[in-house]
Amino acid sequence: MKLSFLFPLIAISFIPLAKTQSQVCNGYTEFCSKSYSQIAFVATHNSYAYGGVPAANQNYDISTQLKDGVRAFLLDGHNSTKGSDIELCHTNCNLLDTGTAANTLKNITSFLQKNPNEVITIFWENYDNIDPLRYKAEYDKANLTQYCFTQPVGGTWPTMSKIIQSGQRVINFIDTNANTNTVPWLMPEYSYVFETPFDNSDPNAWRCTVDRPKDQPQQLYLVNHFLYNVIQGLGSAVEVPERQNASSTNSDNLAKHVQNCTNVFDGKIPNFVAIDFYDQGQGNVNVFSVVADLNKVTYTPQTYGNGTSPSGSKKSSASDLKVNGLFSAVIALMGVATFIIIGL
Ligand SMILES: *[C@@H]1O[C@H](CO)[C@@H](O)[C@H](O)[C@H]1NC(C)=O
Ligand SMILES: *[C@@H]1O[C@H](CO)[C@@H](O)[C@H](O)[C@H]1NC(C)=O
Ligand SMILES: *[C@@H]1O[C@H](CO)[C@@H](O)[C@H](O)[C@H]1NC(C)=O
Ligand SMILES: *[C@@H]1O[C@H](CO)[C@@H](O)[C@H](O)[C@H]1NC(C)=O
Ligand SMILES: *[C@@H]1O[C@H](CO)[C@@H](O)[C@H](O)[C@H]1NC(C)=O
Ligand SMILES: *[C@@H]1O[C@H](CO)[C@@H](O)[C@H](O)[C@H]1NC(C)=O
Repeated sequence: MKLSFLFPLIAISFIPLAKTQSQVCNGYTEFCSKSYSQIAFVATHNSYAYGGVPAANQNYDISTQLKDGVRAFLLDGHNSTKGSDIELCHTNCNLLDTGTAANTLKNITSFLQKNPNEVITIFWENYDNIDPLRYKAEYDKANLTQYCFTQPVGGTWPTMSKIIQSGQRVINFIDTNANTNTVPWLMPEYSYVFETPFDNSDPNAWRCTVDRPKDQPQQLYLVNHFLYNVIQGLGSAVEVPERQNASSTNSDNLAKHVQNCTNVFDGKIPNFVAIDFYDQGQGNVNVFSVVADLNKVTYTPQTYGNGTSPSGSKKSSASDLKVNGLFSAVIALMGVATFIIIGL
């Protein structure tokens, strides 16, 4: 009698558990049966370049970005000035250096271990044309290689639930020097993805054209949506991430841009929406709400970062960034930003 009474309760109590483990993909049940190529993901441009310095593109580190729902990361790999590791640097390791690739990848590994239903994507700008085997060494150090997924060029992308079940939940692209014989999972970006133009300093000129690779639409695409300030100085124009107006850049402006691209590319939504200062938006319109709209899922408002990030100017204080040598002297002298930031 007691047992027959308990049994239905036990059975019922297992249902929600089963649901969270196998029927939610990147936070939504709706995604599980969709192909990876049918989903839009929030991407951060120069994800590693965070802090208060002028060259920074983000306010928060990658661990915070993961917590907040960023699922694609644009990283720059540089030769280290100190050792054999690949270093995450902005333009030049003397300007902004956030440490070894392995250190950041370790944080990604720990996120994946704690969140078994999440798929993430990493884009490498291979600044110094580094050999893929050296990237693999960084992934090995971070225990991340086991999670890396390989997709044949031109093949149909599997569903999100298939990718999650495979355990290989990290999709990696590199812009130059890929070698699919030695490191098959570090895939040549432009065989799979095209990008819209990235070098923009006009808030009224968001384009939806194929920029890289030239005029060759691929299955997936990335919309670049961030602004530079052009500063005249030291005899040449330099570009720095436009921080002041990020909240307007990342709200209606963004919604209109991705809508336009969806129309221009025959109804196909962007797969990656890459922005600076991802935590900035206006009211409940921000990159997360815009991407939820693209995916036709419900957006739940939340606080991003630690909730205190200012939308306007802020003083440089990032003690965890190393800005040294000549560059810091110049930045200090000019008071404001003056750097060479062209490029992703
Ligand atoms: C919140 O994050 C900002 C960086 O965007 C940092 O400057 C500030 O100290 C943080 N505040 C707290 C209370 O952690
Ligand atoms: C990595 O995680 C540590 C510990 O949580 C954190 O202090 C650090 O800022 C994180 N680094 C990145 C790049 O996310
Ligand atoms: C990066 O380092 C590798 C190995 O030391 C070297 O072969 C290569 O030339 C370097 N690339 C650049 C652009 O400095
Ligand atoms: C690497 O990951 C595997 C499987 O996820 C785990 O068993 C192992 O302890 C990890 N190693 C380190 C050094 O974290
Ligand atoms: C949409 O994108 C196209 C292609 O870049 C551009 O010519 C057009 O001006 C854009 N439309 C709007 C409303 O931004
Ligand atoms: C921010 O936007 C305002 C209004 O459009 C404009 O006047 C100002 O120049 C912008 N600031 C920067 C730093 O671009």
